Amino acid sequence: MNPDHPRERVSRAFAAEYGSEPAALVRAPGRVNLIGEHTDYNDGFVLPMALDRAAWIALTPRTDGIVRLHALDLEQRGVFDVATATRRDARGDPHAEHGGWLEYPRGVAWALQESGGHVLRGFDGVLASDVPRGAGLSSSAAVELAVAAAFQVSSAFAWDVADVARRMQRAENRWVGVASGIMDQLIGAAGVAHHAVLIDCRDLSTRPVPLPPECAIVVLDTATRRGLVGSAYNERRAQCEAAARALGVSALRDADGAALEAARPGLDELVYRRARHVISENRRVLEAVQALEDGDSARFGGLMDASHESLRLDFEVSSEALDAIVASARAAPGCLGARMTGAGFGGCAVALVERASLPEFLTAAAAAYRSASGREGELLVATAAAGAGRATS
Ligand code: GLA
Repeated sequence: MNPDHPRERVSRAFAAEYGSEPAALVRAPGRVNLIGEHTDYNDGFVLPMALDRAAWIALTPRTDGIVRLHALDLEQRGVFDVATATRRDARGDPHAEHGGWLEYPRGVAWALQESGGHVLRGFDGVLASDVPRGAGLSSSAAVELAVAAAFQVSSAFAWDVADVARRMQRAENRWVGVASGIMDQLIGAAGVAHHAVLIDCRDLSTRPVPLPPECAIVVLDTATRRGLVGSAYNERRAQCEAAARALGVSALRDADGAALEAARPGLDELVYRRARHVISENRRVLEAVQALEDGDSARFGGLMDASHESLRLDFEVSSEALDAIVASARAAPGCLGARMTGAGFGGCAVALVERASLPEFLTAAAAAYRSASGREGELLVATAAAGAGRATS
């Protein structure tokens, strides 16, 4: 038992705060995306895995609609009534001081209740997370899903993975105000231990794909940050929509390389390149699943490399730090492939590494990144974990 683990921290703090043991513990994981970047909002394919880093809530249900939550990592307490979570007040940027962290749980309560949703009861709870914040590992989706799982315990509604993910995405889009796709919420809900999960972002079906036991997934944090709310993400979405319109399809998922080449003369060059990334990335995801199923890790790694080049050159969402850490990883022993992961512009990369070379890889990749960038990257050997829910003891 590690006393610093969020599971232990929330349990201890709950007893201290409320004078009794919590009735339940819930957890919801962060994620790392192995391949399929900026495809989710194009109705495409993604292949993420849930991380063994998660947001945890210790809770005891209440009979009224009050939620009392102590956010340990922020050292802040908040209270709200689920009945007041009907409309986010128009105070602008949710990340501004006045917006406050409590808008996340309030947004979750709103999304769970709205349009044919659930009747919610409140809970007394304590929240803590070990998903690095702002690193592109879906720390906010983890918190949202953990709050949803806490409401599931207090309110006993049927937990439908796709429905919960869709509602959490609405909380993020409409309440928090970030125009993200469905990937983070869906993998957080649908993660499977030791597996990546192929998600079809159109019908939200999921297929667990076993990860090769002889390889490790390493997350490499550049120690650089860039907010998602930034205009670049929304601009990429708009360019993809423009490309779909020009190609006469409802989403780029429905376009193929031949149709894109045929339409190229009439397309804006930038829109063409954005579409080329999405169309080729969707194909790479399906090839990557095939490679895993064929036991061909080298091929999988090659597709990761190709994904990074496409994100760097065609989609233009990489950064100097991401390129440096990817190059450092690729040059290190045992690396089969590496790419940026998540929205981009900063945050993390992910590498596929032969376990036999893992210690040498970690040392060499960290040293190479240090000398290339002057920064201390953080390297995390990731284990694929289960999706959000009640923790079994
Ligand atoms: C962010 C968003 C996701 C997805 C990725 C890019 O993580 O939250 O929905 O669009 O960027 O693949």
